[in-house]
Amino acid sequence: MQPALELRTLCKTFTLRSGFGPFARTERLHALVDVDLMLPPRSIVALVGESGSGKTTAGLVALRLLEPSAGRILIEGEDITDLPPARLRPFRRRMQVVFQDSYSALDPMFTLARSVAEPLRIHGIGTPREQRERALDWLARVGLAGYGNRYPHELSGGQRQRVAIARALILEPRILIADEPTSALDVSVKAQIINLLMDLQAEMGLAVLFISHDLSVVRSLCDRVAVMWGGRIVEQAPTEAIFTRALHPYTRTLLEAIPAAHPSERRARRFRDRAEIEAEIPRLPSADLPGRPPPSAEPVLVEVEPGHLARVLVT
Ligand SMILES: Nc1ncnc2c1ncn2[C@@H]1O[C@H](COP(=O)(O)OP(=O)(O)OP(=O)(O)O)[C@@H](O)[C@H]1O
Ligand SMILES: [Mg+2]
Repeated sequence: MQPALELRTLCKTFTLRSGFGPFARTERLHALVDVDLMLPPRSIVALVGESGSGKTTAGLVALRLLEPSAGRILIEGEDITDLPPARLRPFRRRMQVVFQDSYSALDPMFTLARSVAEPLRIHGIGTPREQRERALDWLARVGLAGYGNRYPHELSGGQRQRVAIARALILEPRILIADEPTSALDVSVKAQIINLLMDLQAEMGLAVLFISHDLSVVRSLCDRVAVMWGGRIVEQAPTEAIFTRALHPYTRTLLEAIPAAHPSERRARRFRDRAEIEAEIPRLPSADLPGRPPPSAEPVLVEVEPGHLARVLVT
């Protein structure tokens, strides 16, 4: 079966300019370096990693809301990397996004029915009456029956996320990128929104790229986990393999950061810094690895057991 979404050696470099005249400088920031990521159909893949590791950038480049510097983006086996806007449109329908802060995505002057119907209008699907009816259906589906004539400012944060979900799913996409969709919400509302997303994922057979800092949610919901560090994927495996036999020192550091239940345990902990993590990257003999990859001078992403990839030094 074709993956719903595939990123192949994707790179994104931002050029930052600072200073003026003789003091002008440009710096390059490598936000994504050779990112390989696969989202099987109907699966939920988590993308985790510290702030600034490149998770949002990966999502935006996958959606081509940002242009990649190198690498390929495939949707259901079709390469969309170089498609001009007109030919990208049908693919845009297949892949939608929900962000943490959906307030900015909703026009304050539009009723909720109009906001939710907007993607149908943009894609020229149905008559205005049909668009409105479908929007009202979707509002009901996300638990906001009767809210069609309300405005965004009348809603709580959780209700606004429900609107954002309706708006993303009204086009019946195959792929949903959920970028920290609940991190601005309190605990009980968070659980409701997660449950809503998971119900819709199952009903619609969606493939979801779930960007999150909440490792307990990730552990209970996701099929696979990809770990980003400094713009690179350092480990990628079925969820249980990540939580029980993580190989990369950064993954281990991230797992240790889950709040401890017991204060004594909390005190014993110390975070490793970047140099320490780099020093701990395992060296694995080529002969012990599936496919016997060639020895490497730098860490490379290799399959250490079927379906479990980690960035290690091959010796
Ligand atoms: N438009 C931009 N121009 C320049 N640099 C950018 C831009 N967008 C992101 N970056 C930089 O790219 C890196 C990755 O940022 P990104 O937002 O993808 O991280 P993230 O993993 O989503 O972090 P968080 O968990 O805080 O959301 C950061 O160093 C960030 O400052
Ligand atoms: Mg982000």
